[in-house]
Amino acid sequence: KPILFSAIQPSGKLTIGNYIGTMRHWSKMQDDYECLYCVADLHSLTVQVKHSFLEKSILDTISFYLACGVDPNKSIIFIQSHVHQHSQLNWILNCFSQFSELSRMTQFKTKKTIIENNYFKKINVGLFNYPILMASDILLYQTNFVPVGRDQKQHVELTRNIANRLNSLYGNIFTLPTPLISEYGSKIMSLLEPKKKMSKSDINEKNVIFLLDDISSVVSKVKNAMTDSEKSSKIYFDLEKKPGISNLLEIFSALTNKEIHILSQELEGVMYSEFKNIVSEHLSKFLLQLQQSYFKYRCNESYLKKIAYEGALKAQLKAEKTLNDINSKLGLIPFL
Ligand code: TYM
Repeated sequence: KPILFSAIQPSGKLTIGNYIGTMRHWSKMQDDYECLYCVADLHSLTVQVKHSFLEKSILDTISFYLACGVDPNKSIIFIQSHVHQHSQLNWILNCFSQFSELSRMTQFKTKKTIIENNYFKKINVGLFNYPILMASDILLYQTNFVPVGRDQKQHVELTRNIANRLNSLYGNIFTLPTPLISEYGSKIMSLLEPKKKMSKSDINEKNVIFLLDDISSVVSKVKNAMTDSEKSSKIYFDLEKKPGISNLLEIFSALTNKEIHILSQELEGVMYSEFKNIVSEHLSKFLLQLQQSYFKYRCNESYLKKIAYEGALKAQLKAEKTLNDINSKLGLIPFL
């Protein structure tokens, strides 16, 4: 079976963007792919999250994986820091990556600008190095496919470049990964600023639908979402002219599994306010169900830890194989 790898950082409350951009695809993949779903806790250290928050958030994230239908009997669920090989490969890949290519990463440039505007904060090296740890995550398992949102495309491309570089120096060590990015829903935008990506780190919570939002706030956030002042108030997909409406259409399409052009036909003659009611009804119904399942898992911490433990054991075996292989190609002597 082809290998599929994806991960989420437990650096903030998960959003509907995380769900639509990647998690909604995960359970469907489990029969046809060998799936690894990782909680990227080491990545979260690049932003200073509080100890108590991180600890809680790692288990929250595993609970969401389960609530989204990931089955630990079919897929490997694990915590990144439990598989030390990630950090080790990270170092090796550092030595084959260029300062200039990392400096070109859009996500780094954006985060750097935000930090520079806040003069109390400094840019840590981990933030710069972030994509190389991500490349290690992916390459360690000889991954074929990486389902992610559009913002991660550049990181997967960098991963391919690094893999190609090592492959041409040392023979075929790494499988080249392909990002899986759907045409719609791979970049859910902020509700009040629909030209900006919806992000778990947004300081304005009205921009974001969190997976744990209560229903009344979902309804009010959608109601206040930015639309446009086009006189016709027609509902159709146009990212330039109607970023707000297009964003709601993408959310609606992901939740109903209906194509955007079909939805636009069905919504002919519907007013914006009515459309928002329909979207928030669907969102509320979906979130209620997800939350119910989430809380069922979240209250059983020993079960969550057991899944993570067993997942890490399975992941370690696979990771160790790739790491031994690359170590010996590089000329490092095995421990035993
Ligand atoms: P993170 O936690 O920032 O995002 C997790 C996933 O959610 C997607 N995503 C979105 N998709 C659509 N619309 C949005 N508004 C939106 N916001 C986030 C992201 O594209 C991502 O797929 N660096 C990764 C975590 C990671 C990883 C990996 C992913 C670490 N190692 C290896 C794949 C393979 C990240 O962006 O996390």
